Amino acid sequence: MEEGDPDVAVALGPSVRISRPVVAAPMAGVTTPELAAAVTNAGGLGVLAFATLAVDAMVGEMECARALTDGPVGVNLFASPAPERNEAGEHAASAAIAPLYEELDVPGPPPVERPGPGFDDERLALLLDLRPEVASFHFGLPPAGDVERLRARGVTVATTATTVAEAVAAASAGADVIIAQGGEAGGHRGTLDPRTEPIGTLALVPQVVDAVDVPVVAAGGIADGRGVAAALALGAVAAQVGTAFIACPESSVDDEYRRAVRSTAGEDTVVTRAFSGRPARGRRNRLIDVVDAAGVVAPFPTQRQLSGPLSGGGAEYRALWMGQAAPLARAEPAAQVVERLANEARSVALGLSGRWDGS
Ligand SMILES: Cc1cc2nc3c(=O)[nH]c(=O)nc-3n(C[C@H](O)[C@H](O)[C@H](O)COP(=O)(O)O)c2cc1C
Repeated sequence: MEEGDPDVAVALGPSVRISRPVVAAPMAGVTTPELAAAVTNAGGLGVLAFATLAVDAMVGEMECARALTDGPVGVNLFASPAPERNEAGEHAASAAIAPLYEELDVPGPPPVERPGPGFDDERLALLLDLRPEVASFHFGLPPAGDVERLRARGVTVATTATTVAEAVAAASAGADVIIAQGGEAGGHRGTLDPRTEPIGTLALVPQVVDAVDVPVVAAGGIADGRGVAAALALGAVAAQVGTAFIACPESSVDDEYRRAVRSTAGEDTVVTRAFSGRPARGRRNRLIDVVDAAGVVAPFPTQRQLSGPLSGGGAEYRALWMGQAAPLARAEPAAQVVERLANEARSVALGLSGRWDGS
């Protein structure tokens, strides 16, 4: 097997081939078109993070990525329907976070406004028009008719699953690729049921591989070639890697975030609903401790309106999403990360027989 050999392609669904088994996780607020294009140009798959962008910005990012690569580009959206309001919950959540406004001497908390739409017809029309090679969804899948229309346009549809049941439901609803996301993962857990217990990647991936007939991509805690080799050994076709790309020069994060990724031990990350209302893993800080102790948050994504104004208070008050493998992240260009992970994975795979002779 030669490095970057086009014949050794990884099939991500019916029509997408990549030469290295690395997907750059879409990371809202972190991914840039430069990062996504660099990963695709290095033989992996770059995925743009559209979840928190306005439609105009989505168009701009896609144009930019297309100008930087001729290879496949994925885009990612949250599939959740329009959020529901819960005024009593919002009021209680506002009271729970209020002491932090006082502590930082920031006016607020602000009155809660109607959150923006979930996945809607405008976003579907945009995807049908942009025709990314892959449309990946977090928090379930859009309605079946939408999935069919995307597939009919030649778009490979991928979605996150955090349990076997979610994976089976997504595959039978038409997903071409399942991203099995283990509990180690940084950022939001892609489940619609926040009460589900996180399952580790090592336990989840083989069970999902056994349960569905479509390709499975492993995500969560994979940040070097050993992790990629392990994902492949578990039956995944590729690894979706997030945290390991945060410190790349192509990401959009500031120095404080960059430093935090490289100085946070795995045990100093926690899963919390304090920032957005849905469970997500990030570096533990004061805001998380105070809000989690109060135990009240507004529904996703309304809680963001309550936590957002505090982010100027620095690392103790902002969301610094990262996974348990954060210490393995390196500040190197994205293409180098893809190459390193693929080459290390290859060495690990080739070296396994030397470590155990099968007796
Ligand atoms: C900063 C950050 C932002 C993320 N944003 C998204 C997102 O917008 N959409 C999505 O599907 N997943 C998102 N994720 C989750 C990733 O898709 C992936 O599951 C996770 O990064 C894998 O675990 P790892 O961080 O240990 O590599 C995010 C993860 C991080 C670390």
